[in-house]
Amino acid sequence: MHAIAAAPMRIADLPGPPGLPVIGSAHRIRLASFHEQLEAWRRDYGDVYRVRLWTRRFVVVADPQVATEALRDRPGTFGRTARVSRAATEMGFGGLFASNGEKWRRQRPMVMAAFDPGHVRRYFPALVQVARRLAARWQRAGDAGIDLQGDLMRYTVDVIAGLAFGTDINTLQGDGDVIQRHMDRILPMLFRRTLAPLPTWRWFRLPADRELDRHLLAFREAVQGFIAAARGRMRAQPALAEAPTNLIEAMIAARDRPGQALSDEDVAANVATMLLAGEDTTANTLAWMLWLLSRHRWALQRAADEVRRALGDDRVPTRFEQLEALEFVDACIHETMRLKPVAPILPQEAARDTTVAGVAIPAGTTCIFLMRAGATDARHVPQPEAFDPDRWLRDDGAQARRVSMPFGAGPRMCPGRYLALLEMKMALATLLGSFDLVSVTAADGGEVAERLAFTMTPTPLVLRLRAR
Ligand code: HEM
Repeated sequence: MHAIAAAPMRIADLPGPPGLPVIGSAHRIRLASFHEQLEAWRRDYGDVYRVRLWTRRFVVVADPQVATEALRDRPGTFGRTARVSRAATEMGFGGLFASNGEKWRRQRPMVMAAFDPGHVRRYFPALVQVARRLAARWQRAGDAGIDLQGDLMRYTVDVIAGLAFGTDINTLQGDGDVIQRHMDRILPMLFRRTLAPLPTWRWFRLPADRELDRHLLAFREAVQGFIAAARGRMRAQPALAEAPTNLIEAMIAARDRPGQALSDEDVAANVATMLLAGEDTTANTLAWMLWLLSRHRWALQRAADEVRRALGDDRVPTRFEQLEALEFVDACIHETMRLKPVAPILPQEAARDTTVAGVAIPAGTTCIFLMRAGATDARHVPQPEAFDPDRWLRDDGAQARRVSMPFGAGPRMCPGRYLALLEMKMALATLLGSFDLVSVTAADGGEVAERLAFTMTPTPLVLRLRAR
């Protein structure tokens, strides 16, 4: 006898929150807590459910195994949604993150090469210099409270600009108009536009759209500045076209080759993408980690002991091996990303008809993968709510590693992950090598909450340190 394969379910047969006419469940959504609402519905409706927001129907998937399989099925079956691609491209970020299909395939190897471990490791001496500037900035702050995310974004932008563009922009020592100020405004607007019921900004400009235009203009000028500086270097040293030393030079060389694989616009879009993708994510993960450590003093003490042992007489790491020795710090980073992944949701659009968890998904449907749900589920990890970095050291963290996917999964997994991990270790080792952490508190004196604005950030935090 042949088994008869069960026919796939239809989206309409899935459970999901009841909706109102026209708007569906949009009245239940606040942008800043969109992910928390989706996670709450998952508790009511299970690992696969449907939800309608205005005219758009979404399938929400929380099962980590199903998510991994779908994310691996890229670029063929799934990709960035048309909404994200279009909104990002309109704003000048149509680079690797926002591309699909052939365009994505052409760009990915170049970006991967720029952030491969060997290349990142060669950048280490410059990373030491940036970390020293961060320590000096915090020394100058004395007992005054430090704008934690603000300073961490100076650190991450300086690192990205140095590594990917070969430019020492040194925002850590500057107090003037830094590009982070513009980036701060751009990401939330991009997020807002990807979920807006109607693309009103294409028909008329509200004050918020005009303000965004001003920030985009200033940001684009900075991007063009990086490109002009790299072109200047390449004119002075033509050998760089054959042996580029960083991402921007590799992209310019590809742009200038006959039968060019990239246009000027692609180069600019990727420079912009790297700044945005590398800044907010890493800085906010670090901010979450410092906040978590401030609430778990035993873990903070163990991390400090480990750092101080590894550094010996140094106050800031000076050798790569010192960071490699930081096993517990590494575990703290992974535990932070399990509990506070800065990308808790990953929307993906089906490029063709497919099946996900036994549900027929027609081409054009957006599936939203809940990236934190599995990693905080007692069916997958014991005591999921506890901040327990040791889980990553026991049994090599196999259990947690299977379900925690802070960098995504499959062929589009974050190309910056190796850099991000190194940068975060460097920042924590610099802090604990030079200071005692006194406190991390909400700037407004209230509770620390999650706020989604493309990435999931904590409410603004104030860091207090005491020099050692
Ligand atoms: C803690 C820090 C970071 C986190 C948590 C993070 C997370 C992510 C996630 C979840 C994705 C989507 C992956 C997917 O679709 O499967 C992604 C993509 C991406 N990330 Fe990161 N990221 C971080 C740092 C960085 C850094 C430092 C860079 C370097 C510039 C970077 C560049 C990118 C790019 C270019 C993509 C798009 C890749 C593609 O679509 O092929 N990220 N990141």
